[in-house]
Amino acid sequence: MSDSCLTLTINGESVRLNDISPTMTLLDYLRRIGQIGTKEGCGDGDCGACTVAIVAKGSKGQPHYQAMNSCLIPLGSVAGQEIITVEGVANGQLHPVQAAMVKMGGSQCGYCTPGFIMSLFAAYYDRTVDDVSVEGNLCRCTGYLAIRRAAQLIAQAKPQDQFTERLAQATLELNSICYITSNQQFYRSTRLSEVLDLLQHHPNATLVAGATDLGLELSHHRKHISVMVSLEAVEELNLLTDTSEFVEIGAAVPLSHIEDKLRGVFPSLDEMLHWFAARQVRNRATIGGNLGTASPIGDLPPVLLSLEAQVRIASATGERSVMIADFFKGYRQTDLQPGEVIVSVKISKHLTQGAIRRLSQSYKVGKRGTDDISIVAAAFVIDLDEHNRIVHARLAYGGVAATPVRAIAVEQGLLGQPWTIATIQQTKRDLKDGFTPLTDLRGSADYRKMLVANLFEKFFVEMGGATIHPLEVG
Ligand SMILES: Cc1cc2nc3c(=O)[nH]c(=O)nc-3n(C[C@H](O)[C@H](O)[C@H](O)COP(=O)(O)OP(=O)(O)OC[C@H]3O[C@@H](n4cnc5c(N)ncnc54)[C@H](O)[C@@H]3O)c2cc1C
Ligand code: FES
Ligand code: FES
Repeated sequence: MSDSCLTLTINGESVRLNDISPTMTLLDYLRRIGQIGTKEGCGDGDCGACTVAIVAKGSKGQPHYQAMNSCLIPLGSVAGQEIITVEGVANGQLHPVQAAMVKMGGSQCGYCTPGFIMSLFAAYYDRTVDDVSVEGNLCRCTGYLAIRRAAQLIAQAKPQDQFTERLAQATLELNSICYITSNQQFYRSTRLSEVLDLLQHHPNATLVAGATDLGLELSHHRKHISVMVSLEAVEELNLLTDTSEFVEIGAAVPLSHIEDKLRGVFPSLDEMLHWFAARQVRNRATIGGNLGTASPIGDLPPVLLSLEAQVRIASATGERSVMIADFFKGYRQTDLQPGEVIVSVKISKHLTQGAIRRLSQSYKVGKRGTDDISIVAAAFVIDLDEHNRIVHARLAYGGVAATPVRAIAVEQGLLGQPWTIATIQQTKRDLKDGFTPLTDLRGSADYRKMLVANLFEKFFVEMGGATIHPLEVG
């Protein structure tokens, strides 16, 4: 389908956009048309002032209101979708979420308030109002106590109103789009084959999934992108398969769906997703995008390295799989060739031969708990035999080299060793010597080296090692 206009619905009104940049952020557009209740705080997904709710598919396929940061979303990505802004929530009287904020004094200067309202609004209809629902919203002056009290007031509500009715009538399927302006082209395909064809015709096209990384280029750096190909509606990239043998996660599955659907399958993935950005970002961000950025501080690569995931890649000439350890080639460089797309990530559930149990966990150290990037991230897998000896070890890190990496020499040294504090103490020395991280604003090289070693000891303690083998003092 080729069209000269994009359509979207804002607060119940259908809007047709002609010759407007598909890479303009939704926030810029809203403010341009006078919907200035939606605020810009940071413009990079960190503060939540620009939060709006969008009608989208939940992890079980149900329609729901999803909070997202409008400062990161290219207009093209929300084509055909229904957006609710803070202007659209009151209906002659305050919405229950607004009334709760007023009652509890949850607003002072008011700048952050529309964002909090929209995050709470989305959670209110999902019946998931809690601290996590506002973890991506910052308030500089009211203090969080009043806002949390407001949240508690509505936490038990069972909403039934015009917004629940609108959800029941919502169309969730995203259509293919071909939107062409005088100097830009935006495509959204529903089939992988269409994407691969497009890449043949537009070798320099920019792929976009959730836009939580790319959105910064649009919002902060005002980058001009001539041809953008959206992956979020591609059927093959939205599959999530969980069998007794393996899990396969489509590259365009939002992280919040992975959180819901795979909870309890891989503890290290659960843990890392919990600390990954904040709700608004996880609602849009994808695993394909996390690998695609090839950031040395991406949080999922250490987990995937420790679990020895395989990356499935497609191009017009066929498909191939590459082990995640071979996927990162250098600083911000991957093994992806022109015309290739990440299709999925596959993780085996098998224990190593001879092992009777697996210990596995991940850790993220940042300046603050939520919505922050890592100083160091680590993920560990240790398989033990019946004599408590290590038969398989994977120690993976982010933030300590130009790419996410495994401590391969240390892993080999651990094979056959007993899982004891003596082994851990020796390993800590090897780990410290094994990396030469950089010093930057977030942390010094020495601090990072210390984290590399100490996180492994923390893992040992948390897995119950210290109760069997009391820790040496000093
Ligand atoms: C406020 C904020 C907090 C964040 N916190 C974290 C964090 O805690 N941990 C973390 O790791 N990251 C974090 N990020 C970065 C970002 O959210 C992640 O990297 C996310 O996984 C990117 O996914 P996406 O779908 O939004 O990618 P996009 O922005 O859509 O794309 C990113 C890159 O990947 C490419 N790409 C996307 N999909 C594919 C595919 N299928 N095949 C090939 N290439 C592809 C794109 O072309 C682009 O180059 C944060 C970002 C923000 C704004
Ligand atoms: S303006 Fe701060 S998250 Fe969008
Ligand atoms: S009320 Fe002022 S920043 Fe929150």
